[in-house]
Parts: sequence; C-alpha cells; structure tokens
Amino acid sequence: VSVPGLAEAERQRVGAALEDGWTLPASWYTDPAVLALEQERVFARSWQYVARADQVAGPGDFVASRVAHIPVVVVRDETGALNGFVNVCRHRGHEVAVGEGNRRTLQCPYHAWTYGLDGCLRAVPRGERERDLPVEGLSLHRVQVGTWGPFVFVNPDLESPPLLETLGDVPAAVAETGFDLDALEFDGRWEWSIGCNWKVALENYLECYHCPVAHPGFSELLDVDPDAYALSTGNYTSSQRAEVRPAVLNGDRPAAYDPSGGSTVAQYHLVWPNFTINVEAGVPNIGVDVWLPDGPGRTIGWSDRWFAPDVPRGQRDEMIAFARQVGDEDNSLCESVQRGLASGMVARGRIMRESEQLIAHFQRLVFETLSG
Ligand code: FES
Ligand SMILES: [Fe+2]
Repeated sequence: VSVPGLAEAERQRVGAALEDGWTLPASWYTDPAVLALEQERVFARSWQYVARADQVAGPGDFVASRVAHIPVVVVRDETGALNGFVNVCRHRGHEVAVGEGNRRTLQCPYHAWTYGLDGCLRAVPRGERERDLPVEGLSLHRVQVGTWGPFVFVNPDLESPPLLETLGDVPAAVAETGFDLDALEFDGRWEWSIGCNWKVALENYLECYHCPVAHPGFSELLDVDPDAYALSTGNYTSSQRAEVRPAVLNGDRPAAYDPSGGSTVAQYHLVWPNFTINVEAGVPNIGVDVWLPDGPGRTIGWSDRWFAPDVPRGQRDEMIAFARQVGDEDNSLCESVQRGLASGMVARGRIMRESEQLIAHFQRLVFETLSG
C-alpha cells in the first residue's frame, strides 16, 4: 500500500522554511493526506510501545495491541521466544487475538483458522475440502519485537534498526536516577483523548517555554529557568531535565507533592515518534505515554505508571495528581492551538530556536521521514 508522497515543490518549500526557523505548515496539522502519509511512513516504520513485559512473562502469554492503524499481537512461544505479529487473519482479515491472556494457539474468532504461537497456520476448518489452499504461505506476518526494562515494543518494519539504537542515551539517563527499572511495580493505566493533532500534543510536551506561564504548580516545584532547565537531543530522542528548587527541598516553599526520597531531578524524554518517558523527582517512579493520531484533529493515548513497591498509596496518588494537573493544563493549550492552525489564516508559526530547540528537532524528523 502506498499513499502519494509530498510534491517536490512542497518538499523544498517546507525544508527551506524549517531551515529558517519557521514551523511545519499549519495545513500539516489538519490535512488527512498528511496523516495518511504519517501512518505509512512514521507509525508503520517505527518502534511502538505495545505491552508490559509482565504481561508476556510465560509461554503462551499474549497481548493484542495496535501500532496506530495496525493491529499487532505479542506472544511468548513454547521455546520462550517473544514473537510479534500483525494481528490480521490471513483468511479475510479479522483480528486474530483479542485482549490478553494465555493460549496454546491463536484462533481467529471469525472462521476459527488457528495459528501456532510461532505464527504458522495450523488448522483450517473444512480445509480438506479445498484443493489448492497454500497453508504454508499463510502464516501471520511478523513484526520486530524489542524490550527495555518493563516495556515491550514492536516495529512493523522488518528493515528498521533495532530498538536500542532508537532509544539512544535514554536508558542511561534513566539509570542515572539510581533506581532499578526492573524492580518497579506496575501501578495502573490511564487512557485519554485531546482535541488536537498528535504533533501539536508532542510539540507542547517538548518545550517548557510555556511552563512559567501555564504550569504554576510545576514551576513552583521545579526550576524552569532557561539556565537551569536542560534540553538535549540524540538522533531519535529529546530529553529535558529539571532540578527540584532548593527552597522546596528545604521545606521553605510549598509544593504539589513531597519530592524527597530519591532523585532530585525530573526527566522528560521523547523517543521518536510518539513514546514519552517521565521520571518525576522523588521516590522511584516512571511513567510512559503513547500518543496516537485518531484523525488529523484528535490525539488519543494511554499512560502507564510504575513505582517502587514500598511507595505508599497516598504518596503515589499525590505524584499522579501532580502529573495530571500538568496534563490538563497542557490539553487546553493544545486544543486552542489546533483551532488556531485549523483557521487557515496563519500559514506557519515561528520557532524559538533556543527555547524550542527540541521542537525544531522533532519537526526535522517529521519532515525527513515524510520526505522518504
Ligand atoms: S477471517 Fe479469520 S478465520 Fe476467517
Ligand atoms: Fe506543558
């Protein structure tokens, strides 16, 4: 399947504008044709967080998920190998696995075609009445699988470089917090939806230029001064680091939650294209988010959170409330931006090349990926 790419004239125009410090065209945030190109070139060819390692710990464990528009399933087979497949039946396209669980085979609910945990087609009801059924060639299509700590990723593109290459310096940065990622306990998932293009939502995530204006609680806790708030990029990653304000640590200044008991640095990372990793200052914790387009003007996603097992409920809830408060503040900003971009009255925005350098990096990746 292939959707039309960018016209050469547009490619040159957009490339030159980015070079000069302008944003991607406003139309790229509303145009269904751009979204179709993103589905094919960005989402179908990148590493996507789809499951937790504890969900596929034993033989026969499976989890059905999706990579943007592509249904996928991850399953641990009898040999202990973790396999990933496009979760689309080779008969007439029904999704094969539903939800999660433990099975010895994967059976499609439509006509009961049955696949092994290695993806091979094992049984076809009434198959003996057909003369030319090419059973050997009807295995589930494979996707790449990779893991880091409690996170399982797949990539539908078998040619893409391995997961660790995409993660770059992020695992080392998370390790700097001093806690053991594998020792954390899964706390829960929260699903959400925002009325904006997926790029608007992530670009908002990528700058803290708006923090002093839009996030009073966040800015009381963390030093958001541009000389203290650190921005850095790798090939496919962007990182932000913020220190807890000394006055908060001393107890001289009130804060949304007590950030003592661990790292005094908060970390916020984006792994291209749509996986964000948040380590709040304080007790051992990590939260991750997946951001997916649901049409050009809507982003849906989920947030999974882990804590050290000994962190009490009350303390977890305070940290979660802090993160959600910031998220709510961001959502209304993003929805307003979407209305502005959709007006068609302003062709492109201006990037603050210092304060918004992570947005420039992200938009460059979007542009290069869509250019092919
Ligand atoms: S579509 Fe799966 S068995 Fe028919
Ligand atoms: Fe924000």
